[in-house]
Amino acid sequence: MITIEQWIFRKHNKSLNKVDEMDIEKQKIIQSDKMMNDTLNTIISRRSVRMFTDKQVCDEDLRLILDAANHAPSAHNQQSWRFIVLRETSKNELAKFVNSKANDFPRPSSTLLRMASRSIVSAPVVIAVANTGKLISHGTELFKVDRDQAYDFFRVMEIQSSAAAVENLLIASASLGLSSVWLGVLVLIKNEVLQFLQEPEGEFMAVIPVGYAAQQNFGPKKQPLDAIVKYM
Ligand SMILES: Cc1cc2nc3c(=O)[nH]c(=O)nc-3n(C[C@H](O)[C@H](O)[C@H](O)COP(=O)(O)O)c2cc1C
Repeated sequence: MITIEQWIFRKHNKSLNKVDEMDIEKQKIIQSDKMMNDTLNTIISRRSVRMFTDKQVCDEDLRLILDAANHAPSAHNQQSWRFIVLRETSKNELAKFVNSKANDFPRPSSTLLRMASRSIVSAPVVIAVANTGKLISHGTELFKVDRDQAYDFFRVMEIQSSAAAVENLLIASASLGLSSVWLGVLVLIKNEVLQFLQEPEGEFMAVIPVGYAAQQNFGPKKQPLDAIVKYM
């Protein structure tokens, strides 16, 4: 194992005494070197994909993806999430249900619901994520603060925990050569979807179709860091 300074030195054969020059050079090299780190590469190259080929997702990959989701951090370690796997009939029924509900909404929500329905049909497997409500009930009892405030706080904590699980799921899928998309638009019909999923106690989070991309997606471009980062 060599230090980054030694590595830069070997690569560029420059004097380590030239601190300023080296710092700039080091940043560039660290960045380009880290692009070769598998984790960062997967995170950076992941893109939402909405249409899939017929190729099935094998059970082993599905299990790895679900396990990665389950390893997300969670508020108070409550792991307050549920993953519901839909394939074939249940998946197609969900798609049909979402499509039928689109008629109840004006555009563009109706269009987004129909698009979501098409992605669900297209994917060989769909994973729905719901919060259990466990953290909300335990936490609200535990925290001796106003009930509404506690409810609001723990609901946000549950949503953030499940969002971390969803992101893990997307990244794990990408790492296995699979594609996916986070479908949040179903929140518009969240209670009906929960009934459909037979998870009436919880709160609906998202539906994620997973499969092999029908077409590679390279966009959209992300904002430059300068525009969104402030150093204080
Ligand atoms: C909370 C959340 C909800 C989303 N909901 C939808 C959705 O309902 N339909 C959809 O097509 N994409 C949805 N997306 C995917 C975004 O459109 C996508 O992440 C964004 O355009 C950036 O593209 P990228 O994922 O390829 O980087 C959602 C993403 C997030 C994080």
